[in-house]
Amino acid sequence: MSKNYKIAVLPGDGTGPEVVAEGLKVLHAAAAKFGFTVETKAYDWGGDRYLKTGNVLPDDAAESLKQHDAVFLGAIGHPDVKPGILEKGILLKLRFELDQYINLRPVKLFPGVETPLANKTPEDIDYVVVRENTGGIYTGTGGISMKGSKNEVAVQSMVYNYFQVERCIRFAFEQASKRHSAENPWKGLSEQDVKNGKTGQLTLCGKTNVLTFVFDLWERVFYEVAKDFPHIKTDYCHIDATCMWMVKNPEWFDVIVTTNMFGDIITDLGAMTQGGMGIAAGGNINPQGVSMFEPIGGSAPKYTGKNVINPLAAISSVGMMLDFLGEVEAAKAIENGVAYITGNKLKSMAAGRMGYSTTEVGDMMVEQIKG
Ligand code: IPM
Ligand code: MG
Repeated sequence: MSKNYKIAVLPGDGTGPEVVAEGLKVLHAAAAKFGFTVETKAYDWGGDRYLKTGNVLPDDAAESLKQHDAVFLGAIGHPDVKPGILEKGILLKLRFELDQYINLRPVKLFPGVETPLANKTPEDIDYVVVRENTGGIYTGTGGISMKGSKNEVAVQSMVYNYFQVERCIRFAFEQASKRHSAENPWKGLSEQDVKNGKTGQLTLCGKTNVLTFVFDLWERVFYEVAKDFPHIKTDYCHIDATCMWMVKNPEWFDVIVTTNMFGDIITDLGAMTQGGMGIAAGGNINPQGVSMFEPIGGSAPKYTGKNVINPLAAISSVGMMLDFLGEVEAAKAIENGVAYITGNKLKSMAAGRMGYSTTEVGDMMVEQIKG
């Protein structure tokens, strides 16, 4: 019997609905081609609803999403709403309430895509960042006292417990294991590494030279969990050096694991090196629960309704969603379709400069999937 997937759709704000529409076209085409069915249910959560009703998110939002196999999100962020309200009230709240403790962000340069990194090719830029997604500074532990006075104090703490760190690092090792095999090890390994049975590499990105409490924990857990993955080469890089090498030698990375805040920062840097926000996709993952897939670019309000925004990031996030649901062939077809379109069709990844409209790119993708 073919599988049926229930997908919750959150088009959100700005250009979110436009890219989501193209993502859904591709999802339905993939379902028809690869023999599964999808049932979608849309939720209107976002800036417009908040401005109309004063309500950011219904109380049962997370419960409703839990009735689905996955969530497909467009973008959250509205120019008329004070920064923070929607981001914290919708995006972060859902990540926390659904315990999506991993933010998985591939940094992959597709063929034909221009990167600002000189002399780097798709061979060089192909790694994934595993960002811890529900802890650290993002928990909001802290506060402000004596507000408004010259003695005002503001504290926002980086808080991690063993459990959070362990499950994130374990997921990252599993990712590194999944990406390569003994027959086909990661090309960044030395001959000696391969002889020693290594197949891939995981880099812990931290700041052990300054944040000596939090990264003492991360580092200890990293090497402890590494014992269960003897085929994965371990590597460590400070956050500042990571930024440097992501620009200078991105080919040094296979999988990077890091904290919520550092991961937030380096994945925007990574997105730029892969051709910008039009192409960068990500997944908020709860391996035991409901995961939420999104283009990481935001709502880009100035392009709303113009049919010029690049839907490939949203389409790639549908690919990630299908991969996660176990529809591996369909996911691969989407990845190949994206590579074909970037390599042969689009002039640029940037909104308004693709040489095609948003809907035309979606239509081309559908053709690619139909084959
Ligand atoms: C991201 C975004 C969010 C984050 C914001 C919008 C809250 O930057 O998904 O990377 O900081 O996680
Ligand atoms: Mg971010």
